[in-house]
Order: sequence, then structure tokens, then C-alpha cells
Amino acid sequence: MDNVIAIDGPSASGKSTLARNLSAALHIPYINTGSMFRATAWAAQKRNIAWDDEPALAAMLKDLTMEYRTNSAGEFELFCDNAFPGEELRSTEIAAGASKAGTLPMVRSELKRLQQNMNKSGWIVMEGRDIGTVIFPEAKFKFFITASPLERARRRLAQEGNKAGGTLEEVAAAIAARDLQDSTRPVAPLKPADDAEIVDNSNMTYEETFNYIYNKVKDAVL
Ligand code: C5P
Repeated sequence: MDNVIAIDGPSASGKSTLARNLSAALHIPYINTGSMFRATAWAAQKRNIAWDDEPALAAMLKDLTMEYRTNSAGEFELFCDNAFPGEELRSTEIAAGASKAGTLPMVRSELKRLQQNMNKSGWIVMEGRDIGTVIFPEAKFKFFITASPLERARRRLAQEGNKAGGTLEEVAAAIAARDLQDSTRPVAPLKPADDAEIVDNSNMTYEETFNYIYNKVKDAVL
């Protein structure tokens, strides 16, 4: 069994905040694998490699280093070939590139190798879409965090306002469509591992979700 807390789930389920805060409370590294897909798109753009050029992306990833370092506030930040892309990874353009590159099996397998090398020295919290199913199927803890499309749309609107892309109903419909696409794609589809605990937090506050999971893992980690 691996000393990994796997946090998977769809977007806007609150899993990133949860994973980040778990890492801080447990004093263990936080690995956000979405950032690694985004860094792949970012590094490819710098090298003029197209986001669907599978062999070129795979060759790039073989030589690239990705590592998480802690900043002065104790937060984990992704460095890519010793450069810090920071906020550049958060753009919608880079997110689209990440999604595109993430459908390519060779890209996924290179990132899998990098992700599996990240738990060499003790416990980690790793967050993504396929951590419990593909990256660490032997993780000691696996949680699949989700909420109804309507509730996730509410949260996205509260967080992003006008940038969320429409009314509550429109954002909820877009989220449901993306769920369907993500959960039916042939490579590493978004789905809970058979032995994952599904936490539907549609009717839970953020604190309730955090406390529920923290109480499950703390004795094993601390
Ligand atoms: O979580 P985040 O929005 O940063 O992820 C960016 C994109 O990377 C996602 O839309 C998804 O397509 C891809 N991704 C993935 N598998 C992961 C993490 C992210 O396919 N484990």
C-alpha cells in the first residue's frame, strides 16, 4: 500500500481547496496533478509544440523536470525545468491545452511516471482525476469528491462571477456535459475507483467535508 491520500473528482467539487488544506493540516506535500497537465501545455507552447503532437509532447516530457517546492508561506508550487509558471498556468487557454494533451496516452504515461515518483519520502496528498484508479491504485486512502452539477455551478458562479460563462442553469448544463465527456473518454476516464469512498458534498459545508476527511486520515498520518 502507498502512503497516498488520493483525492479525485470533477471540477468545482471543492477538491483542490480540500487537498491543499489537508496537506497543510497534516504537514505533508500537496501534489496538484492538474497543474502538471497545465505545465505540459505551457512548456509545449514555449517550444512551439502543438498540443496534439503526441510524439513531440512525449519526447519533451522525457527531458523535462517537474517538481513541487515550498514557498515562504509553506505552499507547494510547481516548477518546470527550474522555471516557475505560477499564474500563467491558470489561463483558460492553458486549461484547454491541458485538456487536449490529457487525452493522449503517451502524455498520460509520461506524467504517470513523474507522478509516481513523487511519494518517495513519506505521505502525500495527490489530487486529480485518476489518482485512485491509475496512478496509485494501492493508495491507503481514496476519496472521490463530488456534488450535483447545480451545486457546483453555484460554487463556480460564487467564485468566478461573470467569468463563469452564463446563468446558473447554463453553467450547470455545461458542467453536466463536461462530466459526461470526462467520464466516457477512453483514456483514464473520470470515475471513482471501486474501493474509493464517494463523498457527495452537495448538502455539506466546506468545513463539514474537510472535517469528515481529516478525521478519517489523521491517525494514520500524524
Ligand atoms: O484540475 P485542473 O482543472 O487544473 O486540470 C486541468 C485539465 O487537466 C483537466 O481539465 C483535465 O482534462 C486534465 N487532467 C487530467 N487528469 C488529471 C488532472 C487533470 O486529465 N489527473
